[in-house]
Formats: sequence, C-alpha cells, structure tokens
Amino acid sequence: MDISVAHGKLGTAAADFTSKPRRLLIDNEWVDAQSGKRFAVLDPATGQQITEVAEADAADVDLAVAAARRAFEDGAWARMKPTERAKLLWRLSDLMEAHADELAELESLDNGKPVTVARAADVPFAVETFRYMAGWTTKVHGKAINISMPGDYHSYILREPVGVVGQIIPWNFPLLMAAWKLAPALATGCTVVLKPAEQTPLTALRLGELILQAGFPKGAVNILPGFGETAGAAIANHPDVDKVAFTGSTEVGKLIARAATGNLKKVTLELGGKSPVIVFPDADMERVIPGAASAIFFNQGQTCCAGSRLFAHRSVFDRVVEGVAEAASRLKVGPGLDPSTEIGPLVSDEQFGRVRGYIDSGRAEGARVATGGGTLGGAGYFVQPTVLIDVKPEMKVVREEIFGPVLVAERYDDDDLDRIAKEANDTMYGLAGSVWTRDLGTAHKMARRIRAGTVWINCHNVFDVSQPFGGYKQSGWGRELGEEVLHNYLETKAVTAAL
Ligand code: NAI
Ligand code: MG
Repeated sequence: MDISVAHGKLGTAAADFTSKPRRLLIDNEWVDAQSGKRFAVLDPATGQQITEVAEADAADVDLAVAAARRAFEDGAWARMKPTERAKLLWRLSDLMEAHADELAELESLDNGKPVTVARAADVPFAVETFRYMAGWTTKVHGKAINISMPGDYHSYILREPVGVVGQIIPWNFPLLMAAWKLAPALATGCTVVLKPAEQTPLTALRLGELILQAGFPKGAVNILPGFGETAGAAIANHPDVDKVAFTGSTEVGKLIARAATGNLKKVTLELGGKSPVIVFPDADMERVIPGAASAIFFNQGQTCCAGSRLFAHRSVFDRVVEGVAEAASRLKVGPGLDPSTEIGPLVSDEQFGRVRGYIDSGRAEGARVATGGGTLGGAGYFVQPTVLIDVKPEMKVVREEIFGPVLVAERYDDDDLDRIAKEANDTMYGLAGSVWTRDLGTAHKMARRIRAGTVWINCHNVFDVSQPFGGYKQSGWGRELGEEVLHNYLETKAVTAAL
C-alpha cells in the first residue's frame, strides 16, 4: 500500500487534517515550536510519512506550563463554576461524537489499529470518559468535622485541585489515553500540559481543535507533541508542575519518579504488565479459546493488560493452545484502514524490531512456535499473531513485557490454589489477570489471590469508565478512571476556625 492509497481510504475530514503540518497548542493558540523544529508522523502500514508536527522541547514546555499556571491561578478556568466545567466537558464529548468517524480514521492511520476497532472501542470510550468525568465536577466536596479540642471550633475539610498537571501518554491508545488523563484533571479544576507519544500525536491534536471549539478558556489545556527525552523529561522535571501523570514503560516510569523528586511533584504511573490468563480444567472451552485469543491479540498485543501469559492446567493445556493457535492463524492481518483487517501493523519500526527480537530470543532459549512467528514482509510493521510453547519461567519471553501479538503458553500441574496463584504471581508486574472456571468458589478465591489491580473472571480486557484501573507492584502508582482517579488530582485541606 503506498501513501496515496492510505490517504485515499480517509474521509475528507481526516484527509484535510493530515494535509498540512500541525502545531503545538499553547494558551489556546496553535504555534510552531520555539526551535522551529518539526518531526515526521509515519503510517505504520507503509512506513511512509503522513504529515509533520511541531516538535516541542523544554522552551515550549516552559511556555505551556506558564499558560497553565495563569489559567489555574487567575484565568477564566480558575474562576469557573463546576457546572460550567461540566458543560464544557459535555460539549467536548458531543463534538468528539460528531467527529467520531474522522477520529477513528486518524487513529487507525497513525497507530495502525483496525479502523473498525477504533470506531467501536477507542473513540466511544474516550467520549464516555469525558461524560463520566463531567458528572464528577459537581460532586467533589469536603466535609465538616466535629473536633474534640477544648473550646469552640468550626472545622472542615476542603478538596482542592492539585494545580498544573503534566501528562505524558503512550501510543497504544492515543486518543483514549488523552481522554483518561485530561478528563479527570479538568473535572477537578486542574490545568494541563499534555504530551502525546511521538509515534501518535494526531488524534490528540485534533482533540485540541475540538477543545478550542468547545470553548475551553485560555491555558486550561496545552498539547505538546515531542520526544520523551526532551519534552517529556522537561515536563517531569519542571519546578512549576504540581503533578505528573504518566502511562508507558516501567523503565521510563522510574525515570519520571526520580525526576519528580526535584520539586516533589505528585506522581501517578500506569506501567507495564505480564498478565496471566489462568485456565482451570472445568472452564468452558467455548469461551476460553476466543477469550484467551482476544486477551492477547486485541490491539496487536500492544495493551498494558494484555493476557500475555496463558497459564493452563495440564489436563486442558493442549486443547487451549491448539484452539488459540488456530484462532490466531485465522486472524486477518492487514492495514488498519482496510475494514476487513483484524490485526494491524505494530506502531513503529522500533516496536516491530523489539517484538521480533523477543520472538527470536524465545526461539534461542528453546521455546517452540505453535503458530505465527513471522512477519508479512514488505513495507509496514506487520507481525503474525504468535503462540510460543515449551517455555520456561526464567525465559525473557516469560519475564518481560513483549507488547506485541505474542502469547507464551505455560502449563501448571497443581490443584492447590495457593500454589497456582504463587506461580501466576511470579512476575514483577501486577496490572491484571483473568481466571477461567465454572466454579464460583475457585473464581473468587483466585480473584483475591492474584496480586494485580484488575481481575477478570471468564473474560479479559473488559473495561468501564467507572472502574478503577492501575497496578500493584511495578505496574504503577495510583489508579485511572472511576471515582478513584479523582484523588490523584485533588489535595486535601483541613480548615479550623476558633469561634
Ligand atoms: P515509553 O515509556 O518510552 O514512552 C511512553 C511515553 O513516555 C511517550 O510519550 C514518550 O515520549 C515518553 N517518554 C519516553 N522517555 C521519557 C523520558 N525520559 N521522560 C519523560 N517522558 C518520556 O515507551 P516506548 O519506548 O514507546 O515503548 C517501550 C515499551 O514500553 C513497550 O514495548 C511496552 O513494553 C511499554 N509500554 C507500555 C505502555 C503501557 O500502556 N503500559 C504503553 C507504551 C509502551
Ligand atoms: Mg521509550
């Protein structure tokens, strides 16, 4: 597929958006980077350039943080009533819905994911995130406390926005991650400097246009495409940023945590995973097989909570592996903009190399390829859905996050829940896991034993905007979504008055 073909599959709105270079959003203005630099945005299905965007670095971060500070301290945003913030968030979600096809096409073009998935999952979930958080704007409140000190006092607790927030997001769900980050920050009254991933800046920039159209006041939202080591690091290190929220690799999460010590900004981190899909012998195989396949292959496996370790009892292991391998071999791999595609390319040449490196390392360490293992050849970063068997717990492919369509299948021989849980929990990560059984007792006992922020029973990758999401162990700090995320964006103040 050459670039003209890819663009030919875009509707006129998305084609128009990609027809010119895009700039940074600072203080409600679209501006070039101070340095004048731009970088290329590539189509992962072809490796060809889609467009160029301005490349923010530390100087632009300074300007954006200053704009966000003004908006927070004395701009229209600081004075805005919660009901008005709610209306803006609703207006934005309505605009996103009105432009859903365009956003889905841009997402597919930029990230590679199937446009049908972007349209059915990424975009509507992003819309609902803004709507759900709009509802919270009017429900953030403190409480009065009857204190026991001698004398007469009036004492109460306030919940106040934490301030200027830096948000750094990854490329696997570009629009959705922008929504997960922006919506709760704005609902609580914070102002934001958002850095999309360098691989996928387009939908965040289109969202920026919709934010202006919705009527958000100056400086409330600033959007700065740029690279991690420059723009991202400048945000994490900035002395006037009160909080940083990050989603991405555990490695960079640790850098962010370290950078944040400069001014002790608050930190939340949503990091990697190596989530087990635990299959008991009594599970319904009609559900397990498609469920385990989609647990890993959804979004080309580029999902932090991907069910990347199949962990099946010896009595059903062969059947599950055969079923998943068969399902994998039937998935249609192709360009995301082709509506019949089920698996798109990986996001970038770098990710393509990384995932192939893992498959090679698995083979070198003695794993066998039950299906897939190859690429499509030609341009584009296509990896076949892959299942590795004969793996050992110490292999790199079992220990490390691959972040591609590669499942490692492990067998367990035990019937004791504690020992099964111990093996399933044998990872530095703790983001998610799923349990597949018809036995209610087994299901809920395992749910308690799995050391992870999310446990699914007889399903995987089921999300709702009301459910907190985040990690135990090295999968992160804090939670996204639900009521829980609001705590990440609020400070608590105790006020006591002698009467
Ligand atoms: P990354 O963690 O480097 O990138 C994520 C975001 O962090 C991007 O916006 C990037 O520009 C920014 N960033 C990078 N270095 C930074 C720094 N020093 N300071 C501040 N910001 C920085 O992830 P990458 O390199 O794209 O992917 C590597 C691996 O990370 C993947 O193979 C996967 O295992 C994992 N990953 C996990 C994600 C998740 O959702 N938990 C999302 C993306 C990647
Ligand atoms: Mg990186």
